[in-house]
Amino acid sequence: MVTAFAPGKCILFGEHAVVYGEPAVAVSIDAGVEVTITESNKWILEGMPFEPSRHPHISHIINDIFQYRGNPLKIDIRSSLFSAAGLGSSAALSNSMGAALHQFTKPNEPLDLISLAKIGHSAEANAQQGRASPTDTATSALGGCIVVSGQKVRGTRHVFDATLETPEGSRSWSVCEATLPEIEDTWIVLGFTGIGSPTGKMVEGVSELIGKEPKKMDEIRAIGNITSSGLDSLSAGDMEGVGSAMNSCHERLRNLRVSCPELENLISAVESHSLGAKLTGAGGGGCMVSLTRHPKRVAECIEIAGGMPLVSKLGSGGARIL
Ligand code: MEV
Repeated sequence: MVTAFAPGKCILFGEHAVVYGEPAVAVSIDAGVEVTITESNKWILEGMPFEPSRHPHISHIINDIFQYRGNPLKIDIRSSLFSAAGLGSSAALSNSMGAALHQFTKPNEPLDLISLAKIGHSAEANAQQGRASPTDTATSALGGCIVVSGQKVRGTRHVFDATLETPEGSRSWSVCEATLPEIEDTWIVLGFTGIGSPTGKMVEGVSELIGKEPKKMDEIRAIGNITSSGLDSLSAGDMEGVGSAMNSCHERLRNLRVSCPELENLISAVESHSLGAKLTGAGGGGCMVSLTRHPKRVAECIEIAGGMPLVSKLGSGGARIL
């Protein structure tokens, strides 16, 4: 029996703008997905017969990546993430499955987190008709603070390049790591609106808006600048600076029309106890994030306003075998 864990992620800055080559900054969070695999006489997933077509991430990893031909497996999944909420639950599932199968098939070979990030990205792309940035899978595999951009960003360490053939042509990204300072007294609190975040639809909506109103590209470039200055503040441990960059980022995202009344409701509920707050991920539902020194109070405010809170440190560890 083998168990692996991979964390979810929270985008601090740069969602949507990253689609246009601007940088995005994401941190891994404490919650994530655990996968346990055990040899069995039948293929079982979560106590039911395994149907590969219903689980494209898992079947892609088993059949295409590992080309596993061994005995049937019993696969159990435990998730502490809200799903379809912009927290990278499918990336965490892919990485956790990849890590568990690696340990199961090659128990003497150490787990290589860069290879795992690439396996996860391949599974995401396969399941999303060839459209997936490496942000979620790289942050979940490597942990810490990850910067994804069209080119290397100053003050970061280059880890690997990712390329993907998409229906719109070939795309490439530079995946870099930023060093997080010791952050003792500040947490992120995620607030789930309870509404699934339709990433594809939101990305398409922004593209249509820019098509109709080319001036909206100014918002994309502004998010790029905010992301760079937010990253500088984060690297320097200036959490007030990080919070104010998060607020500015949210204003720009609102101008791109990716916020919604439920996100605005949770953001205004936590404002007075937060260093900064914004939507995180694609918007249109999903989660908001507050940066705060009062996580308990912020979690209560989110609950009172009708959301579901999740408290985390910034940038916990990456994927691992348990
Ligand atoms: C979704 O979590 C983030 C987006 O920027 C889409 C992407 O990066 O592929 C909206």
